Amino acid sequence: MEKIVKGLPTYLEKIEGINLKNREIIFLMLSVPPICNYRCKKCFNSVGSRQIKNSLTLDEIFRIIKEAKALGIRGVTILGEGEPLVYKNIKQIVEWVDKLRMILTISTNGRMLTKDMANFLYKHNVVVGIGLDTLNEKEYVSYCGGNANLKEVLKNIAYIRKLYSKKIYKKNGYKIYQLLLHMTVTSKNYNQMKKLEGFCKDDIYFDCQSLSEVGDAKKNISFFKKGKNDYDYKTFKKFGHLIKPPMVLLKMENEKNICCLFYYGIFVGYNGDVVLDASIKESLKYIGNIKDYPLKRLVEKRNKLRDFYLKNYNLLGYCPIREQSTLKKFIKDLKESKYKP
Ligand SMILES: C[S@@+](CC[C@H](N)C(=O)[O-])C[C@H]1O[C@@H](n2cnc3c(N)ncnc32)[C@H](O)[C@@H]1O
Ligand code: SF4
Repeated sequence: MEKIVKGLPTYLEKIEGINLKNREIIFLMLSVPPICNYRCKKCFNSVGSRQIKNSLTLDEIFRIIKEAKALGIRGVTILGEGEPLVYKNIKQIVEWVDKLRMILTISTNGRMLTKDMANFLYKHNVVVGIGLDTLNEKEYVSYCGGNANLKEVLKNIAYIRKLYSKKIYKKNGYKIYQLLLHMTVTSKNYNQMKKLEGFCKDDIYFDCQSLSEVGDAKKNISFFKKGKNDYDYKTFKKFGHLIKPPMVLLKMENEKNICCLFYYGIFVGYNGDVVLDASIKESLKYIGNIKDYPLKRLVEKRNKLRDFYLKNYNLLGYCPIREQSTLKKFIKDLKESKYKP
């Protein structure tokens, strides 16, 4: 039986009966400020080295989510820019999204995923994604820095997996999960992939994707390239999505693959800046800040820019951010104003 994650395209189509082709937008990618208890060498958000200013207020966030609901957006994801569970307003946002009956997905490093927090997220129907790249304690600390503590994280996972196993159910030939483990694969931890997949057993959905070489990951790239598995990793990076499709993979009408968040999601930074992706800051001038425009207008502008990208830049895999040379060319063209909206 195929395993799927609540809130993602297959779930929306096969379980909720939504025809995605009729939709302009499906996901609101909200961000929390770049504050974190970890200092991961891979962090594409470069937490720790960024100034924090002009954060959205809680009232502004409530308004944006309400506008999103009115636009037909079904899922709210909090995948960055910092660690959601250390953000002071996270519980209020969880309650608000649940009250509006939208599907909320939160990504966490798991360190603050205490019993109380797990119970709270469970009660409010949150889809929880835990980032874990190794089961080796020494490696874990060297990858994550900050307050990283694998024993504590594993203790938290042991509790939440028991709780969330009650949320697993079968429908229309699919097995639906609300708890997942996400692994970022590099040549350094490639040999942990099977171990982590095994660790997930049948009660946690396992997802893995290659490193995006942006932010701190780009700065620390030599650390990740020093692995015994360079050849295997390179193959995984190129073809992994065909063998083990990442949960965000979506097939477009022309049969090409794309990340569903890139295609159907609007990214709103912690300060309200709307960009095509967090690592394409140059797109801001073509879209705008949520404090200045209605969400509907920003969706129109970002979708136009997305279509320009898809028409003019050849995507070999599914993720524009993982294709460095194309991404560079796109950013250069944006800087040189080759895009004329
Ligand atoms: C930026 S983190 C923020 C949320 C939370 N702090 C966490 O680590 O889960 C969101 C997701 O991106 C992943 N991630 C971070 N840096 C990455 C990179 N350079 N390439 C690919 N995935 C990355 C994390 O593992 C996590 O699953
Ligand atoms: S835990 Fe998440 S936000 Fe924090 S440093 Fe690591 S990847 Fe970045």
